[in-house]
Amino acid sequence: MIKKCLFPVAGYGTRFLPATKAMPKEMLPVVNKPLVQYAVEEAIDAGMSEMAFVTGRGKSAITDHFDFSYELETQIRGSGKEEYLSSIRSVLDSAVFSSTRQREMKGLGHAILTGKTLIGNEPFGVILADDLCFNGEGMGVMAQMAKLYNQFRCSIVAIMEVPQDQVHKYGVIAGECMKEGLYRVDDMVEKPAPEDAPSNLAIIGRYILTPDIFNIIQDTPPGKNGEVQITDALLKQAREGCVMAYKFQGTRFDCGSVDGFVDATNHVYQNIYLQS
Ligand code: UTP
Repeated sequence: MIKKCLFPVAGYGTRFLPATKAMPKEMLPVVNKPLVQYAVEEAIDAGMSEMAFVTGRGKSAITDHFDFSYELETQIRGSGKEEYLSSIRSVLDSAVFSSTRQREMKGLGHAILTGKTLIGNEPFGVILADDLCFNGEGMGVMAQMAKLYNQFRCSIVAIMEVPQDQVHKYGVIAGECMKEGLYRVDDMVEKPAPEDAPSNLAIIGRYILTPDIFNIIQDTPPGKNGEVQITDALLKQAREGCVMAYKFQGTRFDCGSVDGFVDATNHVYQNIYLQS
């Protein structure tokens, strides 16, 4: 059973400036809930109970969000507005929260390595909150991956098919198809040009990692864009051991981009908010 989930939330969110100048991207609300709360709820739904944030400067709103707000609780208790706090209360009752800071934005691989102190020597989930995933009434994406982990006991990345002209935005895998939607990775390239992409199977922001990844990241030099890429570390792990890629069930919205964020907002409003 995987207990811990890591949330790298230190990025600058430049694509959302000026909204993200003083506010973390992960606190942008999709309808009435911040992106990062959806992410934590997905981890809880996967049976995880220890949430670890890798934050940066200007991100304290995230840790405040997952703390008890004494003034708010006192003010609202017994009033008709109490129901508005129910989802966050339930999150706070279901998990414990810790955080550490990434002092320099040296890439996702470096952010994950920074989280080592919170994770220790056990397998863990990683959720990038700006990739918002839903699977209707079915299992969440992290829960699907945790189930697979129990079977394979190796690192797992979530993948989806993307159009060839979009591969340059993602880490892209190639691998041996083990069964429908499940691949054993043998190649991985970060943000390839379309002609260099080994497939159109793109990694999205959901991972389960075994703790040996930390030593591998430590030995991984900066790659694409001068950043320490988790893709480079995972390729080494795949070549020396095993990494699986899983085509998840559900829909993913790229909330790091304005178009994806608007699509997610419409989806949540129509399919979740109006139905609740
Ligand atoms: P992104 O590149 O999508 O996020 O990184 P960003 O840098 O915030 O966005 P833009 O491109 O400037 O608009 C993917 C995830 O990895 C985290 C980000 O917070 C995001 O959740 N990340 C990235 C870190 O925590 N540290 C880093 O050094 C880089």
